[in-house]
Amino acid sequence: MPVIALASCKGGCGKSTAALVLAGAYAADGYTVHIIDADRSARLFNWAGFGAKPAAITATCADEKTLRQEVESARQTSDVVLIDVEGSANASVAFAIGYADAVIVPANPSAPDVEDAISTVKLVRDMAGVARRAIPHALLWSRVPSAIRSREMDALEIQVGEGGIPVVGRLHERTAYKSLFSYATTLDHLPQADVPGVEKAKLEAARLAAAVGELLRVGGASAGEAAA
Ligand SMILES: Nc1ncnc2c1ncn2[C@@H]1O[C@H](COP(=O)(O)OP(=O)(O)OP(=O)(O)O)[C@@H](O)[C@H]1O
Ligand SMILES: [Mg+2]
Repeated sequence: MPVIALASCKGGCGKSTAALVLAGAYAADGYTVHIIDADRSARLFNWAGFGAKPAAITATCADEKTLRQEVESARQTSDVVLIDVEGSANASVAFAIGYADAVIVPANPSAPDVEDAISTVKLVRDMAGVARRAIPHALLWSRVPSAIRSREMDALEIQVGEGGIPVVGRLHERTAYKSLFSYATTLDHLPQADVPGVEKAKLEAARLAAAVGELLRVGGASAGEAAA
């Protein structure tokens, strides 16, 4: 079943958060989801071990030596496989890209972050060349401040567009996303009385899950349109 890698050579850009957002959204849609945590800090593997979350979401750890086996067995048992990697240019990032049916590259909306995302996209394209197959990929705007000026965002969109990189969607800066870690659960199970903005986050998550589904279906060609 489809393998989606959350990848970036940059730390802290929102990979693990995007993995949890997608896992929760696909589980809410009735799919089984397996997270392969290829980050040595094992934050998602630990996340899976605590709190209340759908039984449909499982997680294991992997490194570059075990990733292939983990991907092959997860493909057999789960509807969706998500790979989360460490935020540095290491072998696991390249392997995760190599095993993926689609790669999502989260980037915070700033010029340096976009440059790092462009480097990661170059790695995806190099890996596609090595593997002699298309690897659909797209950038995900992550931690977008609600107060960001549209002129600033437009300039970044142009920078991304000039690199021919499709955009799969946006996750705004929200307490609800931070709370996924502190409550160790999915958006659907966050206590709405304590955490603001859960409903808006759920809508954003559903939109992202659909756009990633579209990216898997059509490749990179119209993912930007799917997210619009
Ligand atoms: N959309 C968002 N809104 C609010 N906080 C966010 C959002 N996305 C990420 N964060 C916060 O930013 C921090 C980094 O996010 P995250 O752990 O997802 O990044 P990462 O790319 O997985 O980092 P690493 O490279 O260290 O694994 C975390 O504290 C997370 O809670
Ligand atoms: Mg992470």
